[in-house]
Amino acid sequence: MLQIVENMNRLGTETAFEVLARAAALEREGRDIINLGIGQPDFATPPHIVDAAIKALKDGHHGYTPAQGILPLREAVSADLHKRHDVEVNPDNVVIMPGGKPTMFFTILMFGAPGTEILYPDPGFPIYRSMIEYTGAKPVPIALLEDQGFSFSADTVLGQITDKTRLLIVNSPGNPTGGAVPTDEIKRLIEGLRDYPDVAILSDEIYSQMLYDGREHISFLRYPEIADRLIMLDGWSKTYAMTGWRLGYGVWPDALVEKINRLAVNCHSCVNAPTQYAGIAALEGPQDEAGEMVEAFDRRRQVIVPLLNQLPGFCCVEPGGAFYAFANITATGMPARELQNRMLEDAGVATVAGTSFGEFGEGYVRFSYANSTENIKAAMQRIGTLLTEPGPAAT
Ligand SMILES: Cc1ncc(COP(=O)(O)O)c(C=O)c1O
Repeated sequence: MLQIVENMNRLGTETAFEVLARAAALEREGRDIINLGIGQPDFATPPHIVDAAIKALKDGHHGYTPAQGILPLREAVSADLHKRHDVEVNPDNVVIMPGGKPTMFFTILMFGAPGTEILYPDPGFPIYRSMIEYTGAKPVPIALLEDQGFSFSADTVLGQITDKTRLLIVNSPGNPTGGAVPTDEIKRLIEGLRDYPDVAILSDEIYSQMLYDGREHISFLRYPEIADRLIMLDGWSKTYAMTGWRLGYGVWPDALVEKINRLAVNCHSCVNAPTQYAGIAALEGPQDEAGEMVEAFDRRRQVIVPLLNQLPGFCCVEPGGAFYAFANITATGMPARELQNRMLEDAGVATVAGTSFGEFGEGYVRFSYANSTENIKAAMQRIGTLLTEPGPAAT
């Protein structure tokens, strides 16, 4: 019998991919499925970015690149961070990765071990907990509650830190709730973290350019007092509709750059060269299409939230960012997973149960509104029919 290591049994997963696979299987059977499950923009990557990758291939960029990423891309990231957050980041501290995920994967690997504790958002991106458990560290959930706008109180978080805490993970605006932590609360958190100089911080800012109603994103990079222990994660997947390209980055403190480069060399060697050139075009080229995508998400947000609130047993607060609505479904009387399955199997609408995002996700379902207004309206109608007249609603 094969004897794989014990840690492997603790590795979790991202249910959104399972939902996607089931939705695809139903489609193959001829069912018409509306996918509000997967967290990716429904737009194509802007053409000037695609052209830059084609040009890079034609220009002969076919080989390995430095593991950390090509310098022009790291310089473009640095300039972009200056433009967006008014911060000076040395390109030497920027480490290019195949997507946003590897920065969290490697950060958690670096800090997690049996006997340590890692604080992470719950409901939150499922890979945080999965990786924490893989390392043997104790996962300590930071509860993001609906009545706090799916944010947290800095005092509560600070109160959860112990002498075993090695890493604190923050994700604002957040997946799956769309909640954004108010600036005052972030400031209080940073202030309080002065008392815990040994705690590293991973700030996942992958949705930082998707904020609504005039909300402003204040990057953790703005706080020099934590620069020596901050890892800031961002990337191209969401902002430029580039999920399949696999391109992201981390900004790392001086003391960890060498270590993260080693992990990159041991793992993937480098991100494929043409994608890195596409990344430069994305940051340095016109931003119109990226801006139009956010405007479209905002319009859809204003369509989906009132419609969710009209569904029997549903109640949904306005998300402040990202492209997710996290609806409270407790009054339907159904557990989240059962409702998710019924919406997919009986109504042909793919969503993700809140329980896929942590223990505080029971009673909620995540709807991604990265889909057309027409599809969103049709999906809401199908769910309405399902809840009022139980029975198959999809063709
Ligand atoms: C909070 C959060 N961080 C990181 C990622 C990973 O992004 P990528 O596809 O670039 O790996 C996601 C993707 O859904 C996310 O929701």
